[in-house]
Amino acid sequence: MFSVREATPADKPEIVSLIGEMIPGADVTERWRWLYAEADARPDTSVRGPAALTGTTNPGGPALTWLAIAPTGEVAGCTSFFPFRLWLDGAPVRAALGGDGYVRPAFRRRGLGGLMHDASRREMKKHAIGCMYGAPGAMNLTPLKHGGSREVGHVTRFVRPLRIGPSLIGELSSRLGRPRLAAELHVMAPLDPRVDTVWESAKHELRLAAVRDAAFYTWRFRHAPAQREPAYVIVDGHTPIGACALESMRAGDELHIVDLVAVPGAWHTCLRAIVAHAIAHTRARTVSIKLFALDGRSRQMWRSGFLERESKPFLVMIPRDGDRRFVDPQRWFYCGADSDLDRLE
Ligand SMILES: CC(C)(COP(=O)(O)OP(=O)(O)OC[C@H]1O[C@@H](n2cnc3c(N)ncnc32)[C@H](O)[C@@H]1OP(=O)(O)O)[C@@H](O)C(=O)NCCC(=O)NCCS
Repeated sequence: MFSVREATPADKPEIVSLIGEMIPGADVTERWRWLYAEADARPDTSVRGPAALTGTTNPGGPALTWLAIAPTGEVAGCTSFFPFRLWLDGAPVRAALGGDGYVRPAFRRRGLGGLMHDASRREMKKHAIGCMYGAPGAMNLTPLKHGGSREVGHVTRFVRPLRIGPSLIGELSSRLGRPRLAAELHVMAPLDPRVDTVWESAKHELRLAAVRDAAFYTWRFRHAPAQREPAYVIVDGHTPIGACALESMRAGDELHIVDLVAVPGAWHTCLRAIVAHAIAHTRARTVSIKLFALDGRSRQMWRSGFLERESKPFLVMIPRDGDRRFVDPQRWFYCGADSDLDRLE
């Protein structure tokens, strides 16, 4: 009989070796620090009050991991919750991004994936996790559904071509017609107070979204192991109106907006600022972004020239008798910060 149990600090070496098998080439020590380790705190009380976060570890807290154990005692697989602070109808709640689900090849297709998800679901209330969510890989879809996750919608990639014939001419003429760019991208500083300013305003328009404050953006992007997704503050005049992270993909052909958060009314101004940045500072031929499909449509992405492309399911798991607002497709704002990957290629 296989069993599932929650991991303890003593399991760290085993989990580290599972991560190494799961993501060949990953710097497992760095991934552990980034996603799994206990949150660190700054002893200095002068900056943001007691125990201010430094942004090097997840401000949502350390990972929760479950292990599948074979009858021989061998560890057959793992799955984890990476706690995220969500903003739900005007109040912060504790939830988790699901990730690092892995079963060693010799033990696959015997129901262990589903068994681990099921065990994690039973322990959600104990850990005060309101929901676990994510856009999983294809192999994990059925195991997640067996474990109690449900498909709440889709995550869709929206793409905007940049430099093909008329659109480049249009771009140039519209830029020439403007006295200055409406908004610009500035590299984000660690714990950049401008990101807090953006979040304090943006959150009023979001019903259910990961808290994208300076501590989160610093940890998620500035301290990510791969260092492939630099974060920016989008500034209009002297006013911060958005924050984003960008990744150059396909040998520079595509600039992917990994994440974007904007103050109310500034979403399209921010998109246009990123497009202008892509034209001025990169060789990209397209700009792309992944959003919860319903949300992307209601934002009328076409107004900034973005067209809908492929999509993948978005799953949410709540405990039995959990808060059903987490499974309401009308509420979700999802973008690339809601991922345990720090590079997309
Ligand atoms: C995803 C994973 C953890 C599932 O573990 P598992 O113990 O084999 O899962 P279960 O036995 O509970 O469920 C198996 C089901 O998964 C689905 N599945 C498994 N392999 C699949 C594949 N290659 N393609 C599509 N679906 C697949 C099938 O629906 C399968 O059911 P079936 O055997 O009745 O056809 C394991 O396949 C794995 O480690 N994969 C590599 C890492 C990975 O992709 N992780 C997910 C990241 S989100």
